[in-house]
Parts: sequence; structure tokens; C-alpha cells
Amino acid sequence: MRSLRTGFRGTGLSLAAVVTGAALLLTAPVAHAADTPLRDLAAAKGKVIGTAVTGSKLTGSYGDIAGAQFNSLTPGNAMKWGSVEPTQGSFNWTEADQIVAFAQAHNQQVRGHTLAWHSQNPSWLTNGTWTSAQLSTLLQNHINTEVGRYKGKIAAWDVVNEPFNEDGTYRSTLWYNGLGANYIANALTWARAADPAAKLYINDYNVEGVNAKSTALYNLVKSLKAAGVPIDGVGLQAHLILGQVPATLQQNIQRFADLGVDVAITELDVRMALPADSTKLAQQAADYKAVLAACVAVTRCVNVTVWGFTDSDSWVPSTFPGYGAATPYDENYAPKPAYYAIAEALGGGTTTPPTGACTATYAVGSQWNTGFTGQVTIACSGASLSSWHANWTFGAGQQVTQAWNAICTQSGTAVSCANASYNGSVPDGGSVSFGFNGSWSGSNPVPTVTLG
Ligand code: XIL
Repeated sequence: MRSLRTGFRGTGLSLAAVVTGAALLLTAPVAHAADTPLRDLAAAKGKVIGTAVTGSKLTGSYGDIAGAQFNSLTPGNAMKWGSVEPTQGSFNWTEADQIVAFAQAHNQQVRGHTLAWHSQNPSWLTNGTWTSAQLSTLLQNHINTEVGRYKGKIAAWDVVNEPFNEDGTYRSTLWYNGLGANYIANALTWARAADPAAKLYINDYNVEGVNAKSTALYNLVKSLKAAGVPIDGVGLQAHLILGQVPATLQQNIQRFADLGVDVAITELDVRMALPADSTKLAQQAADYKAVLAACVAVTRCVNVTVWGFTDSDSWVPSTFPGYGAATPYDENYAPKPAYYAIAEALGGGTTTPPTGACTATYAVGSQWNTGFTGQVTIACSGASLSSWHANWTFGAGQQVTQAWNAICTQSGTAVSCANASYNGSVPDGGSVSFGFNGSWSGSNPVPTVTLG
């Protein structure tokens, strides 16, 4: 990352020279990252806050945020059977190892995900013809191998994933069809043997509220406990739709807690029909806050994990066409209202951004063969700021070379400009501007600026 702090404050720019017809006005949530990271807020409440991650992305802003804000990581795909053993007997632990190493370096827990599931299995496994004895051995060996490899490094395993249908009957899967419902108790027992310190979970979706599916899970956990099978927790995935947090969420968490198991919200996201707008983002913030509040209210709810912290790393757009914007940070890593809602639910102070509008206007000033000057004006109406970040992504290889009246850094195509010490404050009805020199070639399109 290059730091482009400059020593002089004069703009040297004539406002009249600005705007070559390319000014863009955008309303963005007025926001700056909360002073206290989410992980510290969560820790003060006795909770763990996690995110699913992609190993290859754990550098730059993505790595910075994952490391700074969260104290638990879940590999989004890297520990699934199809990822770790694509060919029978030939293992690929690269991404899983990388995530575990990152977590250790950042003093984070790891949630292992997942051991016995019907999806994302290797084709050699799903296409094979196995006797039930063979299938049982395959599953036992898989659990021994993977749990054993990470013994002592995994706080909790989603041992069994998505075992139920919506009506509470068992899902027809490789495991259920081949081994019967006993595969669940066996998988848990094998996982316990391979790493006695890891908490063992059953994880499912649409089990957040009290309903037929969650009641089937409840009854299963109750019977496993009665039979002495090692079961430490239930994972409520919480892939939610905007405005649809179940009213019985806290009650449901509590009934599992009362069985003597921990509860984790393991895959929280709140999807909305695109495009996002301020009304939907506000509803999303309320939804995140409700989920966090329900967990905070129950002592045995130990972890809330978001399924990707940025909209640029979410499974939603490809899985639910037309939906997206489901995570707490936007695609440019600017925190959304949902981020502040999480912070607030975890006891963060006055982190909620005002809802009035502050806007950022980007304009190209003069432009010559390889260089140009740019100016960004931040104006507030019905809102005010005490500090600001203006963020954008250059679309055509432009590079900021020098900035004034702001401290700009550029990493790849991503530019982030923070206020200088003397111009962070933007009063209601007022504005501040900063400028920069940049290089360009080919074209110099105007980027979208967000305030973060
Ligand atoms: C998703 C991943 O996020 C995607 O990248 C992948 O293509 C499909 O699986 N329930 C789960 C997760 O338990 O493992 C799923 O993750 C999302 C639904």
C-alpha cells in the first residue's frame, strides 16, 4: 500500500476549472468504522464474532478487516470434503491450512466446516457404489483424517450439516440412505475421538425460529444427549431474507440452551432484492441487530458468524439471482448500516451513523496526456460528520500520485482518502473538498465514491 500524504494544504485548484461534465453525486451511508472493533465488543459480552472467509483473499483490505474485526473464522469452502480430497487418497489442505495459520496469527478461533454433508462432496465419493460398511469406513476415515489434522486448532466443528428436510423428516442423502440416522451419532463419536477438545455441532438452515424443522433438530439433540452421544452445540445458519427475522428466534435459541448445548449463529446473512437502497439497508441493519440481540440475550449463544463480511465475497448473488447486498460491508469494504447495527447490539456506543444525507461529488479538473487533477467534495444536509473516508475504485488503471487536504492511500485499484486533521468536521449544510493529482492512460472514467 502506498501512502500519499502530502505536506502542503493549498489546493492550487480553481473550482471553476473543475468538472468536465463528469461529476457524480452519490448518497452514501455516512459512516466511519466503529472505534472499537466488533471482536472487542463481542468479547466484552462474552461472545465470539466470526466470518466465513476465502483463503486466497486474506490480504490487503480483506485481510485487514477479517483480522481486525472478527475473532473467529470459518472456511467458506476450504474444509469441505470436495475441497480437501478431490481425488480419493490425494489431499489438498492448502487453503484450509492457510486459513488456520491466519487465524492463529490473529488470535482467532476457527470453526471447522463441515464433515458429513450431502453437498460439495468429491465426485469419486458421490458416484461410487458403496456397501454400507464401506460408506461407514469412508466417513470414519474422513473424520479421523481431517479432524486429526487440525486437532487442537479448531474451536468447533460443524460435524453434521443440513440433515433435515423442512418438515422435520431426515433428508435423503448419501449418508442417511446408506447408513440410516445413526450416521449422525457415529460422526459425532468419531469426531470426539479425533479431537476431544473441539466442540461438536449439528448445523442446519431454516431452524432459526420454532418450526417443524427446528423441532426435529431439538428432538434429535435431546435424544443424542440422553444416549450419551457427544453433542456440544447446534448451529443455526441464518441465511435470512430482508425483514424476515423469525419472531421466535430468541425463544428457539433458549430452548436449545435449556437442553444443555451451546448455540451458534453460523452463517448469518440478510439478502435483499437488488438494487439496494437506503430503506432496505436500514431494514437490513434492524435485522442484523435483532439477530445479534437474540444471541446476546442467551448466555449459551456463544458465536455469531457472518457468511462473508463483504458483499464482494458473498454466495448470495450467484445462488439467489436478483438478490445480494447481504453482508455488513459493501463491495468496496465500506461498512454498511448493518455493520453499525452489529456494533450497537454488541454494546458499542454511539456508532450509528446519522441517517441524513452527506454526499461525495467526484470531479475531474484539468486533464492532460498522462495526468489529471481530481477533486472530491463532501457536503452534508440534514446530517454532519466529525470524520470521513471517501472510497472509490478506479476502473481504468488510474493512480493517485499526490493528494492534498486528505490522506489518500491506493492499494491496487482501491483508493481510500481520510480527512486531514483539520477538515474532518463537515457541519449540517456545509462542505469540504480535497484534491489530488493522478495518472491515467486510455480513458479516465469517473468512479463511484462512497463515504465510509
Ligand atoms: C456455500 C459457499 O458459500 C459457496 O461459496 C459455495 O459455492 C456453496 O456453499 N450452507 C452451508 C455452507 O453450510 O457451506 C454454504 O456455503 C451455504 C449454505
